[in-house]
Amino acid sequence: MKRSLILAAFCALCLSTAAQEKRIFNETPAQKEKRLAWWTNDRFGMFIHWGIYALPARHEWVQNREQISDSAYRKYFDLFNPDLYNPREWARQAKAAGMKYAVITTKHHDGFCLFDSKYTDYKSTNTPAKRDLIREWVDAFRAEGLKIGFYYSLIDWHHPDFTIDNTHAQRPHNPEDYEKLNKGRDMNKYRTFMHNQVRELLSNYGKVDMLWLDFSYPGKNGKGQEDWNSLDLIKMVRKLQPAIIVNDRMDLKEYADGGDFVTPEQFKVSAWPTHNGQRVPWETCQTFSGSWGYYRDENTWKDNKQLLVLLIESVSKGGNVLLNVGPTARGKFDPRAQKALAGMGEWMELHGRSIYGCTQAPDEFARPDHSLITYNPTTKRLYIHLLDYPLQNFTLPGYKGKVKYAQFLHDGSEIKFSAPAGHWIKNEVGANDLNLSLPVIKPGVEIPVIELILAD
Ligand code: GLC
Repeated sequence: MKRSLILAAFCALCLSTAAQEKRIFNETPAQKEKRLAWWTNDRFGMFIHWGIYALPARHEWVQNREQISDSAYRKYFDLFNPDLYNPREWARQAKAAGMKYAVITTKHHDGFCLFDSKYTDYKSTNTPAKRDLIREWVDAFRAEGLKIGFYYSLIDWHHPDFTIDNTHAQRPHNPEDYEKLNKGRDMNKYRTFMHNQVRELLSNYGKVDMLWLDFSYPGKNGKGQEDWNSLDLIKMVRKLQPAIIVNDRMDLKEYADGGDFVTPEQFKVSAWPTHNGQRVPWETCQTFSGSWGYYRDENTWKDNKQLLVLLIESVSKGGNVLLNVGPTARGKFDPRAQKALAGMGEWMELHGRSIYGCTQAPDEFARPDHSLITYNPTTKRLYIHLLDYPLQNFTLPGYKGKVKYAQFLHDGSEIKFSAPAGHWIKNEVGANDLNLSLPVIKPGVEIPVIELILAD
């Protein structure tokens, strides 16, 4: 009995491993690495959630949360007129913050499109804005040298054929009413519509570097792979834009290549995420405060240090950060977002070298106290981010003989190696440790970084 159980468990494991190995494309790991190379190098991008939900300014899920009917929600559509919209200015701010790519909501769950689609009337060209806001955005961000990505919601609470489930804005109070409400709704038609829109996005705006599809919730009352026809969708996407990078939210998890990277949302991972024991590309998407869309009265804004630690820590575990701004209904970044971006930019201007092209350090380099370390495999430099500025003596455990030179990154000033002196330090610094002598006064940057030039 026991043996057969173990055998069954073993077979299940083999089967699931085999199932996880299914592939859609015949791209080699090296080819994938090359396709993702710019993104892995760049590390830091801007997410932009913008749509008619910026008018109520109470979260991008406002229609759902408050169960607003289509007709009541229509007022935001009729009033949408972002007279201060200047995407070039957005792009400049993203760039100044150190971001290298940006992903914008072309359509969110409410179904409203910021682009000119021939498959719907529910789009910016029919609002007082009267134009394709995505077209201007693409041109502006490209002009500033940023890579561009489209977020597209698989979910659509506006489309008349998208069946009403318990995640829908028009979900009924009485469960018995689903059938009545869904009479005449045809997911086949919705699927065709959705594929058509993705085709438009990937055909009409030149090269699109990323596609961010959101999201699946398979199971009873949910929607997943079959509802979206995700297999055909991803094949079309890669056919139209062979170099594109696609996220992992279309419910193709049983395929090794059903998404290019994983997307821990509003979550700082404890270690580099893996799949079948292999490290996988990842990007955490995060907000400055508790909402993606502009939320006037939400006040839980992260401070400058928290944001920088998020970025550094992500890179130290081999990941990217996609940090979100929710522009206002008039088309501006609100002052809180501007301040947060500027704060990061001030640090990034001096410390980009410890972020771009960097990743998790080789295991032989232990993390010194109160620090985060990143490593550039090309230049072979190691970066120690001092989260809590030490008192003069700073010990690098096991680093003896591995370092040629040490300097502060912000000003390139030398940091001297120091022989342990005094009774206490002699006890604490081991024969394989390297001791640095730091200035007593913390340099005037939020998180000082020591750059180590490693011995060959
Ligand atoms: C969630 C939310 C959505 C947001 C997204 C960003 O899926 O539904 O509002 O766009 O996270 O990752």
